[in-house]
Amino acid sequence: MDIKTVSDIRSVGVVGAGQMGNGIAHVFALAGYEVVLNDISADALDKAVALIEKNLDRQVSREKITADARSEALARIRTTTTLTDLGTTDLVIEAATERETVKQAIFQELQPHLKPTTILTSNTSSISITRLASRTDRPERFMGFHFMNPVPVMQLVELIRGIATDQATYETLLAVVRSLGKTAASAEDFPAFIVNRILMPMINEAVYTLFEGVGDVTSIDESMKLGANHPMGPLELADFIGLDTCLAIMNVLHDGLADTKYRPCPLLTKYVEAGWLGRKTGRGFYDYRGEVPKPTR
Ligand code: CAA
Repeated sequence: MDIKTVSDIRSVGVVGAGQMGNGIAHVFALAGYEVVLNDISADALDKAVALIEKNLDRQVSREKITADARSEALARIRTTTTLTDLGTTDLVIEAATERETVKQAIFQELQPHLKPTTILTSNTSSISITRLASRTDRPERFMGFHFMNPVPVMQLVELIRGIATDQATYETLLAVVRSLGKTAASAEDFPAFIVNRILMPMINEAVYTLFEGVGDVTSIDESMKLGANHPMGPLELADFIGLDTCLAIMNVLHDGLADTKYRPCPLLTKYVEAGWLGRKTGRGFYDYRGEVPKPTR
């Protein structure tokens, strides 16, 4: 079997057109890759393309990219509700819901249609890459490929090798990251890798700080913005990421490392139970339904 190099990667299949999937499609199309974006919902695909257009327009208006680059990028994105249409691509990035059973089902359905050389990746923020890889037909050509939100803006991509990932696959993805103008950080395959291993306990601690009445939403966020120079306060950032995602990652840390220091704050659980998942549902630690976000507590 040929060893892949970055020049072999011309087309990219993205599974899931949500927050992460649309950003991933955006940056790959802008970097010159042919992109096939898949979602089970045609409506989600329409919304994703509209959002990509809006974000590209923003980059044009800020003179980050030219109007021609914008149009060419949009022309490189094809959408489909048929997962198996991704079979012809050179690299697949799964960015579906953060549930292991969903991800496994996607890989199972997809793999009989893939070229033998296609690299399979998951944008999972915390699930074991080795375990996901072991349930596919190509663990040596499987990797964690973790983008940060908002994908067009954030410089970092975490690269996570499973135990069986081969060197050629790793080097190919390293070169792909560079071709996007981004920077890779390699993380070992342990729960939540590097960014979320550090970021989520901080967010969880901010929720405890609120839960215990040490501060209110505004004082907690202002403290970290003005006192630690974070671009967003931790509660605002939690709403931005999605409280369901934050809770899922805390549970992966808690279960995977068996240490009580990762215990999810009961208040975080309560918000998720209420369906207050942050910006995407209009309410979380802030209420986004008015002109200006207002704290919900
Ligand atoms: N697409 C393209 N460009 C975008 C964009 C998008 N979706 N969102 C923002 N931008 C651009 C803007 O055009 C602007 O560009 P210039 O600086 O060139 O003018 C720049 O980003 C800043 O945007 P704004 O001025 O509108 O807003 P801001 O200054 O408040 O910054 C932010 C917004 C970049 C999101 C900033 O608040 C930030 O960095 N927040 C923290 C984000 C973060 O921590 N992300 C990681 C989350 S963890 C994660 O993703 C991992 C996980 O698994 C959960």
